[in-house]
Amino acid sequence: MSHPQTNIINFSAVAAQAQVLPSPMPTLFRLLNVTHHQVKATHCQYSATLYNEACTIRVCWSRYRPDSRLKDGLLVSPRGLEPSNHSGWAYKISGLSVRTMPSPDENLFHTIPASWVDDREVVQQAAALSDALSKPYRHLFNAIFWDGERFRRFCIGPSSMQNHHAEINGNLRHCVETARRLQRDCADLTDLLDPGFCILLGLLHDAGKADEYQLSSNGQWIMTDRGSLLGHKVTITEWIAIAKDVYGVDLTEGSYLALQHCLNSAQNAPQWLGVRESVMLEAFLLSGHDRTSGKLDMFRRLAPPANSGWGCRHVHMKYRPYFVGVAPAGNGGQSLQTSNQ
Ligand SMILES: [Fe+2]
Repeated sequence: MSHPQTNIINFSAVAAQAQVLPSPMPTLFRLLNVTHHQVKATHCQYSATLYNEACTIRVCWSRYRPDSRLKDGLLVSPRGLEPSNHSGWAYKISGLSVRTMPSPDENLFHTIPASWVDDREVVQQAAALSDALSKPYRHLFNAIFWDGERFRRFCIGPSSMQNHHAEINGNLRHCVETARRLQRDCADLTDLLDPGFCILLGLLHDAGKADEYQLSSNGQWIMTDRGSLLGHKVTITEWIAIAKDVYGVDLTEGSYLALQHCLNSAQNAPQWLGVRESVMLEAFLLSGHDRTSGKLDMFRRLAPPANSGWGCRHVHMKYRPYFVGVAPAGNGGQSLQTSNQ
């Protein structure tokens, strides 16, 4: 926060109390509210919020000159953070290390602030999914989304403009739900399915939509040129290939081909299209859970009061949906009420 005339930070307005820091401290933080002012020619005073689900702290530090890399959304680690070194409004640190190399050991979903995703339950579900990934798969996911702006778009954007999950955070919600459904299949089919592979499929299957939609100046979601010309499947295919090669993700050729097959194959695609027919169980399961998640969201949105009777029409549903209602607990389903609206 700056003084109107002198551009001096008003420390009292951003005061943060010393707090009990967790042990061990998280090593990865999302940089937020970063601000600086030049005290003199060789002295630049910085302050920022470092966000991690386990610990959010206000920090301040000095530099000789401004660091043009420091922007909100970046992944960083504090240097010289001492629990006792609190100035009364922030922890004094010696500086920030910008984390440029994706780590397979970090959980990116622990770095999602509430300003990105208000629904903390879906963030916790996503974090649990990331924890369940094997190291190479988490490395691939992190390599794709180490870019803070891209990860923010993935977390914030919708899954469609008018169809299912067509709201803020809709795509994240849909990907997490699809991944959790696949994870449940894995618990039933331990001899056939790899949980890490299936979870990664669910998380990534619509991840390319992060670059398919953008908010217009009037607050409406519109399709980007990339979305119109390529579509999200081409985008995620690109991201996987680049992340694997640039960051040296330890993915076997077999896993790479299987992942790309499940994300790009289709059932009953005309042969002339050149799209490969799905031949993997994971591809069939992904397709089914993807459609279930989408339909469930549509039916929820179109349901009438008390979820009983005829719901609302929707341009993407041929027929008006009908709901039988849910019996109150304990009466064995004998008193379902339906109303024709
Ligand atoms: Fe989907």
